[in-house]
Amino acid sequence: MANDDNYPVESDRRRFVKGVVGGSVLSGLLTTGAAGVTLSTKPSGGGGGAMDYFGAVRELGPAPRGLPQIPIEIDDEGYLQGLWPEPETVEEGGVEYQVSRTEIDIGGGESVTYSTEWFQYCGLQTFEGIRPDAEGQDEYLRYDDPLPTADYPWLEEVTAGNQMHVDDFENYEDWGNNVGDAGVGQPAAGTWRSQDVSPESKIPILVIRSTRIEEMAQDDEWIAQTCPEGFIAFVNKCTHFCCVPGYKKLSEASNYNAENKIYCNCHQSVYDPFDIAQQQLISLPRPEGDE
Ligand code: FES
Repeated sequence: MANDDNYPVESDRRRFVKGVVGGSVLSGLLTTGAAGVTLSTKPSGGGGGAMDYFGAVRELGPAPRGLPQIPIEIDDEGYLQGLWPEPETVEEGGVEYQVSRTEIDIGGGESVTYSTEWFQYCGLQTFEGIRPDAEGQDEYLRYDDPLPTADYPWLEEVTAGNQMHVDDFENYEDWGNNVGDAGVGQPAAGTWRSQDVSPESKIPILVIRSTRIEEMAQDDEWIAQTCPEGFIAFVNKCTHFCCVPGYKKLSEASNYNAENKIYCNCHQSVYDPFDIAQQQLISLPRPEGDE
């Protein structure tokens, strides 16, 4: 997997400013510690550039930034979907390309630009499902196939590859396994916009239903808008070297106080799924000609 998003950027919690989106210019130098990167003013190919996004805060380890969040919607029958705005064609710097983006009201007269460009990192920008108008892809969140029942025994009750449903997570207030505490959150591993593609081209996701998310939604408009009925979802690609982290999967996570958090065992990065903040990334353009 490409390791091409390992740029250091600043993290700035709860900074509700309108995001810098698409191919917009962010000239200057963003630094974390001693390292820095000068940002180019215009990406080539389809979309990308410097932008703000919401995600789980990186708490520990070498990952340069947080895990990007997928805003969730629940359809009339109770199935979970990841928000994928209607694609539109934009022109920036003389280049035309398609993008899926929308404004999400977060209260207080502020809004946030949600864009599927949030997920253009770690090689995902080359995946079919990341194309705004990808054929044959819908927005439903689906269980992994095969199911990781050794990690999450409750998944024996669902069908591999099926759409996730609210009722499947009915034990979320008490659920637990042999890692960390019970009652923190009920997880599922799955994929998004990855139907009929090769296993290595599937977009991995992590879904958690938790009373903590329900509590956060009471005084956080972003969470209220994007996490219905206590559900939160992330694209599950570590922002360090692109491994797939886990939530309550490995007992060794307790060595890093991460038994109730998202833990990447490749190099011990920890993300807090209950600390969601606005952050920045350099979204990589989709391949040239992918418009
Ligand atoms: S900490 Fe290195 S890939 Fe996750």
